[in-house]
Amino acid sequence: MSDLVFQLSNVSYQYGAGLEAVRNLSLSVYSGESVALLGANGCGKSTLIKLMNGLLVPTEGVIKAFGEPLHETTLRAKQAEVTFRRRVGFVFQNADAQLFSPTVREELAFAPLQIGISVPEVKQRVQDIAELLRVAHLLERSPFQLSGGEKRKICLGCVLTMNPDVLLLDEPTTGLDPRSQEELISLLHQLIGAGKTLVTATHDIALAARITTRCIVMSESHEIARQGETSETLADIPFLRSVNLIA
Ligand SMILES: Nc1ncnc2c1ncn2[C@@H]1O[C@H](COP(=O)(O)OP(=O)(O)O)[C@@H](O)[C@H]1O
Ligand SMILES: [Mg+2]
Repeated sequence: MSDLVFQLSNVSYQYGAGLEAVRNLSLSVYSGESVALLGANGCGKSTLIKLMNGLLVPTEGVIKAFGEPLHETTLRAKQAEVTFRRRVGFVFQNADAQLFSPTVREELAFAPLQIGISVPEVKQRVQDIAELLRVAHLLERSPFQLSGGEKRKICLGCVLTMNPDVLLLDEPTTGLDPRSQEELISLLHQLIGAGKTLVTATHDIALAARITTRCIVMSESHEIARQGETSETLADIPFLRSVNLIA
């Protein structure tokens, strides 16, 4: 069995009294696999991804990342947090929540500079990633004045300039036009081929089918409805209907 990246044991999260977002989740993610978090709107995918990223702390249960409890040790000690942030990149569902710099170039350079990567190295990474994502012509623009699809590419670029081992992607194709979606999918295939671990939250079963081998399906009662191979799970039409993933 390959190395564990994440291990969640009986994890629940409530935004407030009675505002349950995820309930009693137990799951594991292994190094090098591409996993989908599938579920209808509101079932708790974004919450789960924020828990895995350490942005939210479970109300109940334990999350381990790389074998260590995420919230007690990793995110409290400065050095451990830097190590975690280097290894795990996160792309928000809402691009506007992630962008803050005056230019795209500064946005792409921010995180790697923050963790102490040298200026020439960061410059090179920004250039390479901008070309890979075909956004080099946007580098001097304000990220706030871009289209939705362009913003999403920049958010992904911000993560790629960190070159993390693990990517947590929340609805990565939303707002992208068909050609950009195809480019993104082929980029994700390259990342998977390079041995990255991908966790993708989506309600798009076609996307899950193309980029993941395993899926964790959430129910509208915020629990895990099923975990298994993507191909097998997506072939079960009555099940997909029962969790409101197809009409
Ligand atoms: N900031 C918040 N405050 C209160 N409730 C929230 C907040 N964010 C999400 N929720 C609720 O938590 C549940 C799960 O939301 P979310 O994780 O965004 O689901 P998904 O990403 O699957 O659409 C929903 O019922 C949603 O209304
Ligand atoms: Mg969501």
